Amino acid sequence: MEFSTKALLADKAQGAAAIVAVHEGRALSTAAIGLDRACAGAISALTERGDFEGKAGSVRVIYPGGDSRVERVVLVGLGKSGPCSRKTYRDAVSAALRALLETGTRRAASFLTEIDVEGADLRWKARHTALCAIEAGYRFDELKSTRPPAAALTHLDIMVSRSADVAAAQRGVQEGEAIGAGSSLARTLGNLPGNICTPTYLAMQARKLGRECDLAVTVLDRAQMEKLGMHSLLSVSRGSAQAPRFIIMKHQGASAKTRPVVLVGKGITFDTGGISIKPAAEMDEMKFDMCGAASVFGAMRAAAGMKLPINLVGVVPSCENMPDGNASRPGDIVTTMSGQTVEILNTDAEGRLILCDALTYIERYKPEVVIDIATLTGACIIALGHIASGLFSNDEALAAELLAAGEASADRAWRLPLWDEYMEQLKSNFADCANIGGRAAGSVTAAMFLSRFTRKQRWAHLDIAGTAWKSGAQKGATGRPVPLLTQFLIAQADQMAGKPANKQVSRQADKRTR
Ligand code: BES
Ligand code: MN
Ligand code: ZN
Repeated sequence: MEFSTKALLADKAQGAAAIVAVHEGRALSTAAIGLDRACAGAISALTERGDFEGKAGSVRVIYPGGDSRVERVVLVGLGKSGPCSRKTYRDAVSAALRALLETGTRRAASFLTEIDVEGADLRWKARHTALCAIEAGYRFDELKSTRPPAAALTHLDIMVSRSADVAAAQRGVQEGEAIGAGSSLARTLGNLPGNICTPTYLAMQARKLGRECDLAVTVLDRAQMEKLGMHSLLSVSRGSAQAPRFIIMKHQGASAKTRPVVLVGKGITFDTGGISIKPAAEMDEMKFDMCGAASVFGAMRAAAGMKLPINLVGVVPSCENMPDGNASRPGDIVTTMSGQTVEILNTDAEGRLILCDALTYIERYKPEVVIDIATLTGACIIALGHIASGLFSNDEALAAELLAAGEASADRAWRLPLWDEYMEQLKSNFADCANIGGRAAGSVTAAMFLSRFTRKQRWAHLDIAGTAWKSGAQKGATGRPVPLLTQFLIAQADQMAGKPANKQVSRQADKRTR
């Protein structure tokens, strides 16, 4: 999808398609009133007949014909008059784009940026218009032998009413494109099956991304990991025929002495559970167990695409968790790279076993902050469902920044505790700690385990078990939390440049999270 930004009033609109909003009570937005003139009264004719009420989420494509200068008008409902929520705005854009993707329209113009959105400025509206368009147009059909023809829509004009606004809109569009490219990459890596998307494949994709986005990429093999003492990570890989890989991607947008943000993504390319094997039902979904890694790839791509003036290191420990004669047994004890020993009471709690060594490895970068992202616990789905990612942090300010980034990007997280009392549950009679802490508070004890390896860091952990993919008829990777991570990185860059972060957005976020 290509985007352009233009200053034009809706009454001057012409072309294949224009998108405008209607509020409840058949109240046309300013642009809808203007467009009504350009399309020979087709909009008011429809609303006056009672055929479009403006309910939030509703959408209608009309073909004005006659003297109209636009071929198609897409009406989206925004609900009650007055400012709408960020979610309503995004839902409206998505609904309009989905409707247009089913038509033969090649080019469309969105006038929705005129709408007042709570806690959002024009840059945000333009960013999310582009992002929602990319998300709506995303397809994963490369493994089907016959594919439906590509959608006709290839161009979206994002309209603003004043030429003074073009620059802000353009900036937002560029951000939306970069985040969209990152999110699409994360979705595709997630959707690829375990027999294709292996640790070696991920390493190849990292090298490819490095060439495309000018990242410095390093890949460590088993022997190098052995030398570093990553015995915990390697223990997970023991049962697999697939070679493990440890991937490092670097984006240098600031001076070499600026401390980097480090992202660490769980890259289990398939999780059978190992000897503590999982039940058969829905086990196919464990191909998504590398979605944390995929989100690191996506965030790297987005950050590089925006040329963010920060230093960013993406680290992906990757292997496959399989049962086999060489696989770890329950009760095995391994020595982590940090020197701490771990009793593996359940081989299905493997994510933390690979992350702990990665979290020790990244100390060498003297990070400003470290964020790990992992499909870590089924318990997180029980706690938060598929709406919010679980957030854990040993730093109050970092937690607040991530929650605000989630709010602003419509990719929300919710904080859970990391209190010392929970560490009890990880006690082992034979090693420094166990890798599981019983049924109670499973997501918290998993995070507590990780916290043992991040004591020196400003660190946060995102458990994305419930948010990284959808099950059922809509089965597929969501690309989350690429929007949250990228928003966080944009805010870091804004902060470093001494520019105030978008005050309206953060104020709104503060109010919601309290
Ligand atoms: N990858 C899973 C977590 C998971 C399960 C995510 C289902 C999404 C859906 C992880 O490796 C795992 O198996 N965790 C165990 C931990 C338990 C053994 C302490 C779990 O959640 O059951
Ligand atoms: Mn597991
Ligand atoms: Zn797993």
